[in-house]
Amino acid sequence: MTAADRRTEPVLTLDDLTVVYETEQPVTAVKHANLTLHRGEILGLAGESGCGKTTLAYAINRLHRPPARIASGRITFHGDDGDIDILALEDRELRAFRWERLSMVFQGAMNALNPVTTVRAQLKDTLLAHRPRMSRKEIRERSEDVLKRVGVDPRRLGSYPHELSGGMRQRVMIAMAMLLEPQIMIMDEPTTALDVVVQRDILREIVRLRDELDFAVVFITHDLPLLLEISDRIAVMLEGEIVELETADRLYRDAQHPYTRKLLGSFPSLSGERGAFIRTGIDETTDILAEERA
Ligand SMILES: Nc1ncnc2c1ncn2[C@@H]1O[C@H](COP(=O)(O)OP(=O)(O)O)[C@@H](O)[C@H]1O
Ligand SMILES: [Mg+2]
Repeated sequence: MTAADRRTEPVLTLDDLTVVYETEQPVTAVKHANLTLHRGEILGLAGESGCGKTTLAYAINRLHRPPARIASGRITFHGDDGDIDILALEDRELRAFRWERLSMVFQGAMNALNPVTTVRAQLKDTLLAHRPRMSRKEIRERSEDVLKRVGVDPRRLGSYPHELSGGMRQRVMIAMAMLLEPQIMIMDEPTTALDVVVQRDILREIVRLRDELDFAVVFITHDLPLLLEISDRIAVMLEGEIVELETADRLYRDAQHPYTRKLLGSFPSLSGERGAFIRTGIDETTDILAEERA
């Protein structure tokens, strides 16, 4: 089977997912969401702050905590060895599932590295938690390999987080998410805190890694122009609902939902050929996008 064929197969399905914050005034942050993620695809999840993107990502990872409650729905991971009902996993199964099958890079993740341990120790801990029989040599090789893949010099293994730039820390987090070769990586605003040039470099890296390794990515951001550059398909969320799900090309050319059209209209630089930027390198678009985000 070719990579293109595999890309039409589902790797994750959400059926009717509803998440409620059971606060004094309950908030239904995700409303009956249906979504299929294909193998190896980059699916963008767009929508304004507060529309429920992070809540959705946490629920997929089973990282939601009270007052959040899943009020309806199913989340199914389609592995090569069969389906996994994520909401039914026991704690031990869930620990094995995370990182191994599906990993997440959080909003502000670059500050989530443990400040008192080296990059080497953090990678090693994650590896050993899942592969307790891995040898020292294998651990070293794997750690060096993932760092190289995300563009970090393996000599940085001995560094502490505070010795690294923000962009470098975010790359280490992405390396960590790739460590056990999951089929899905969920990235929640992974580059929002970084300056535009660093952000673009990292995005290009993510697209390249996906092309090389063929994992699926759910890429979450309020930044629609950025999603148009890197996504195969884009889901648009509005007040907890997925109101549109289309290929990036079609969404750009022929958005159906008035809210999507409004979002597209709010980014004046969205003209010309979609995707030209990431695929051809930094050019004058950078300046326009930088001004827009400032
Ligand atoms: N811990 C919480 N308790 C109550 N409401 C919450 C909590 N976390 C998020 N919300 C609400 O859920 C909605 C969706 O939030 P969130 O998923 O963070 O959106 P996004 O990631 O798109 O900015 C918002 O209305 C937010 O106020
Ligand atoms: Mg969020």
